Amino acid sequence: MTDQAPTAESGTADIPGKPTSASRTTLSHIMTHNDTNLLGTVHGGVIMKLVDDAAGAVAGRHSGGPAVTASMDEMVFLEPVRVGDLVHVKAQVNWTGRTSMEIGVRVLAERWNESTPPTHVGSAYLVFAAVDANGRPRPVPPVLPETEQDKRRYQEAQIRRTHRLARRRAIKELRQKRAAEGYED
Ligand SMILES: CC(C)(COP(=O)(O)OP(=O)(O)OC[C@H]1O[C@@H](n2cnc3c(N)ncnc32)[C@H](O)[C@@H]1OP(=O)(O)O)[C@@H](O)C(=O)NCCC(=O)NCCS
Repeated sequence: MTDQAPTAESGTADIPGKPTSASRTTLSHIMTHNDTNLLGTVHGGVIMKLVDDAAGAVAGRHSGGPAVTASMDEMVFLEPVRVGDLVHVKAQVNWTGRTSMEIGVRVLAERWNESTPPTHVGSAYLVFAAVDANGRPRPVPPVLPETEQDKRRYQEAQIRRTHRLARRRAIKELRQKRAAEGYED
């Protein structure tokens, strides 16, 4: 298997790299009745807020300053979360570009008062952009994947990055073409 080191496109040559473990974070929270939807299980938006919070902490730690959510994709909910569940949101930098980072998040839930193994209830991938005091993108340190799992995640994140860029470009070209044809939607 190839170990893909950060490349010019996926890293910033003049900033020293940081290992994945330096910013990996877990955010834990007990779900209460305030967190429920009309069905009585935990609202997806509550989980998404925790996901964004954990990913934001990782992005800030890795980049050494403020970072904003640029996109959130592939948020999947695998199992319902219930009141009384202790939810653990585990986040790490999967990949870095010049000013952006992909953060991978894994959500686990266990009963707050039982010692049974946690269930994997959701996952998401978010892109954060590091920003300066004026809100403009600033360069980030390249992430240095450490374990084989980190390296696999890095390679998979590169695939997602390629697809995100291709999708954005294709949609932009379609809109430009329709505008040139006189459509005003
Ligand atoms: C994210 C933001 C800083 C990007 O600014 P921009 O002027 O478009 O700058 P760029 O085009 O140079 O993008 C900066 C980086 O973010 C990435 N990026 C921007 N938009 C993206 C998107 N929708 N999906 C994935 N990556 C994105 C770019 O690829 C670039 O990465 P790279 O430098 O590693 O190649 C800007 O759009 C912003 O401030 N958005 C609002 C963020 C916010 O408020 N988030 C909270 C949500 S309520």
